[in-house]
Amino acid sequence: MKVMVVGSGGREHALAWKLAQSERVETVFAVPGNPGTALELKVENVAIDSDFESLVEFASRESVDLTVIGPEAPLVDGIRDVFDARGLGCFGPTAAAARLEGSKSFSKEFMARHGVPTAAYETFEDIESAEAYIRGNGAPIVVKADGLAAGKGVVVAHTVDEAIEAARDMLSGKRFGDSGRRVVLEEFMTGEEATFICVCDGETVIPMATSQDHKPRDEGDRGPNTGGLGAYSPAPVVTDEVFDRIMDRVIRPTLAGMVAEGCPYRGFLYAGLMIDATGDPRVVEFNCRFGDPEAQPLLMRLETDLVDICEAAMQGRLADLAVEWLPMAALGVVAASGGYPGDYEIGHPIAGLDQEMADTKVFHAGTSISDDGSIVTSGGRVVCVVGLGTDVRAARESAYARVDALSWPDMYVRRDIGYRAIARE
Ligand code: AMP
Ligand code: GLY
Repeated sequence: MKVMVVGSGGREHALAWKLAQSERVETVFAVPGNPGTALELKVENVAIDSDFESLVEFASRESVDLTVIGPEAPLVDGIRDVFDARGLGCFGPTAAAARLEGSKSFSKEFMARHGVPTAAYETFEDIESAEAYIRGNGAPIVVKADGLAAGKGVVVAHTVDEAIEAARDMLSGKRFGDSGRRVVLEEFMTGEEATFICVCDGETVIPMATSQDHKPRDEGDRGPNTGGLGAYSPAPVVTDEVFDRIMDRVIRPTLAGMVAEGCPYRGFLYAGLMIDATGDPRVVEFNCRFGDPEAQPLLMRLETDLVDICEAAMQGRLADLAVEWLPMAALGVVAASGGYPGDYEIGHPIAGLDQEMADTKVFHAGTSISDDGSIVTSGGRVVCVVGLGTDVRAARESAYARVDALSWPDMYVRRDIGYRAIARE
């Protein structure tokens, strides 16, 4: 069969690589893919426009059996609905279901309707009332743009002034355009974060192995938020007991709520959680797709055929499927361009990509091919290097050994990925 993966980042490299391992797959089209996907066996990069019409036309012309959508934006904009209307197989939630990520106010109200634990919040469209709320509640307080903002629309403000400035910035429309014309002000939650990604067929849900990412730029989880500079699986903070609470209080009520509201959720569902000191989970955010960089270490551990998983989910057959994981830990370290998430240089040749090392894999994200054919940096997050090991500590050693064989001017790497998990181990 033929499979298509839409997207160009590290998550999409991991998805394409994993889908291509299926014996049933003849070709995986990566649209547009990146230099990493181009190197994978059975994967072919396709340079076509990313508008839905072009994608649908390509999928019908090539008789693509299964299309997997990597990023959130096309899902929120209704790509699944467009594929459905043409009778083409597409894995991911409909636009109605993707509102769980696409609109923070929808998702907060949804959680309130269905008793899913999350931070107290209020939504504002004018700065005067937002300012009054911030002064009334004090800091720390969290300011979020309502719409999609590429992971950068959240400010954890430690002072009242910082919060007011962030809200003013968003509401003015200067920073996030229309995504910021409405802001959500949220109670600051303390605890340890965990990522909980599931695959859902509308009714049944199968949790993926647990994982955890590091969003802040600096070591010790400080500094500005990024898309994620490292991730690992499993996440020891999610003990068996915490796992059961997450399923009972967050995942099952969410799935049932979506059914009750007429938009059953089919696709990957990502719950970003805060686990407090007593092991109680609350939702930080929902995402309507796989995590990046969580996908890279998670998919390294996945033993079950990913095509089978997607198909079963699309056909409502997940209840019959057993998903198996390698009993090892995986840890991914993102090597970024110096300056990210602010301004950074691109076009630097990357040395060391061709060195093979057992139990490691380099997933490309912000890379491109230069005129002379060499692979150069072209984005903020350049590659994600994953290592496998008997535990998170061992996985970290192999990941950093592989990272240290890579170099380019201004390469930036956090050296402490996995520190919380290792402390728990
Ligand atoms: P989000 O894009 O909603 O995941 O937010 C990005 C990051 O901001 C999260 O991973 C958390 O570290 C932090 N964050 C968001 N909301 C809260 C909250 N209510 N309390 C504490 N931290 C938060
Ligand atoms: N790793 C965070 C995300 O995918 O949103």
